[in-house]
Amino acid sequence: MCGIVGYIGKKRAVDVILKGLSYLEYRGYDSAGIALISDNSARIFKAPGKLSNLKEILCLQKESDINATTGIGHTRWATHGLPTEINAHPHTCNCKSLTIVHNGIIENYKDLKPVLEKKGCKFLSQTDTEVAAHLIAHEFNETKDLLKAVQSAVKKLKGAYAFCVTHKSMPDRIIAARKNAPLIIGVGEGENFIASDIPAIIEYTKKAIYLSDNQVAEIKAESIKIYDENDNLIANKVENLPFEPIALSKMGYKHFMLKEIHEQPDVVRNVLVDKLHDEDTAVVLDDVQLTKDELEKINRIQIIACGTSLHAGLVGKYVFEELTGIPVDVEASSEYIYRNTIADENTLVIGISQSGETADTITAIKQAKDKNSHILIITNRKDSAMARLADSLLPINAGIEVSVAATKSYMAQLLSLYLLAIYFAENKNSKNSLIKDIKKELLTLPSKLEAILNDTKNIENIAKKYSSYKNFIFIARGINYPSALEGALKLKEISYINATGYPAGELKHGPIAMLDETMPVLAILNEGIVYDKVLSNCEEAKARQAKLIGVTNFIDEKHKNLFDDTVIIPEIKDIVSPALNIVVLQLLAYHISEYLGKDVDQPRNLAKSVTVE
Ligand code: M6R
Repeated sequence: MCGIVGYIGKKRAVDVILKGLSYLEYRGYDSAGIALISDNSARIFKAPGKLSNLKEILCLQKESDINATTGIGHTRWATHGLPTEINAHPHTCNCKSLTIVHNGIIENYKDLKPVLEKKGCKFLSQTDTEVAAHLIAHEFNETKDLLKAVQSAVKKLKGAYAFCVTHKSMPDRIIAARKNAPLIIGVGEGENFIASDIPAIIEYTKKAIYLSDNQVAEIKAESIKIYDENDNLIANKVENLPFEPIALSKMGYKHFMLKEIHEQPDVVRNVLVDKLHDEDTAVVLDDVQLTKDELEKINRIQIIACGTSLHAGLVGKYVFEELTGIPVDVEASSEYIYRNTIADENTLVIGISQSGETADTITAIKQAKDKNSHILIITNRKDSAMARLADSLLPINAGIEVSVAATKSYMAQLLSLYLLAIYFAENKNSKNSLIKDIKKELLTLPSKLEAILNDTKNIENIAKKYSSYKNFIFIARGINYPSALEGALKLKEISYINATGYPAGELKHGPIAMLDETMPVLAILNEGIVYDKVLSNCEEAKARQAKLIGVTNFIDEKHKNLFDDTVIIPEIKDIVSPALNIVVLQLLAYHISEYLGKDVDQPRNLAKSVTVE
């Protein structure tokens, strides 16, 4: 992961870079660093932990030490080496003339390191990046040309990288290179920018060049030159950026996560607008680029995604199979790759990703593309690498999601999958009355979500009551089994409580051995085909002294002696209920984490965008 920012122009580079990095902290926050280049000097400042620590260090510096107009900066998600100051970027060479910030993994760094050591390079950190610093410095010593040095070095690097390189003898340029990691060059007037993502530079320019894999760029204040993998100069393809300057405001909420949870009714309205008008009119999905004939030939669907997006995919499987009869496999992207997956031109491969940058999913999509399958991407970033691989692109329009824990993007993914499944069913001329029911439910979903969000006291009290437990089990069956997985993921990632989701029927096949009064069980029970079965599984848990929390839309006398605590959600058909149940689980996780005083928006060890495999 990691976020990088580069600036060259007339402004104080430190200001532009720090601001840019603040928009990239979602990519990692294990450490931050900056290199400021001027008049044959390269000043490096680094700090472990969040960007605020680096800012404190910079505040203590003399103005003359930080007034350079060229610089590069980095916010790190540790892959190789502890999140210490020594491992923080920028990295440098023996004589500290060259500096580099890097996002990605240099896979052959262990092969390159001893060779460089033999040539006299002294390594200070445990990072793979330092190898690239020494390698480029070595090439520079031969050529005295930074561009050529980078061009020659990248041919020796394996793996993924996006990096910016400077040399103190050339403060008028930054060299950038990219392979399998995002990097854009913001085009300004008398100034230029480099960044891992648009929010870092959108305040300054709306024009950018998306660097492609294996390209190297030489960026000066007045010029940008891009070279292909054969070192040939190519024409610049300047594109308009799709963003307005972003006001990253919590809008009065204590955390971004809480704000994003509360945005969900509007997110649903946004997804539905222009696509679902009423229960009697067919869903409109102009984004699907399949002809009716091609659509009819689709005989298999594969959904690939990671984390929360994977859980959305699991809900999608239930809906698709129910409405269309097409078999659907859902698989973690990291498991889909590096094996012979069975797909062909009649397979629809759906990639789901909030960021559109998740490395595992990108690799999986590329693998599916090679099998000539139609690639449909559901993402919150229509400018992302994944979006660019799509045959059909379904943007979810959830708005920027800042909190590392995904909430509103999950809601938008669910809604997009419901619409997609209905679209397929309607194009296959299914006259299923269920379709009408689902449409009706989707249209009333915003007000039902609002009903939950307007009164969260009960959930807050439950959160407080259970916050001291060290373990949790979430159970459900059928279409809410993915809700149990997602609820458990939310809780563990922001509170560090060990939480596991199980199909309720699986409890008796092993996990029940763990149950006693120290292990609360949260059960999701919706009125429907599996209701009684889940109720029986709850009885089994109760008989083992587990504390029981029920999340249900059904008021039942039987709950009284069974559940220690209950959350009642509005009436809803089972097939759409994951969209309501999840909000209860998001709020529960949020309030437990908040009560425990954890860093809700930036939990330890995580990053919003996982750009390494
Ligand atoms: O951007 P993506 O949807 O591809 O990200 C996938 C996962 O990394 C992500 O959902 C992760 O699990 C979230 N932190 C969950 O809240």
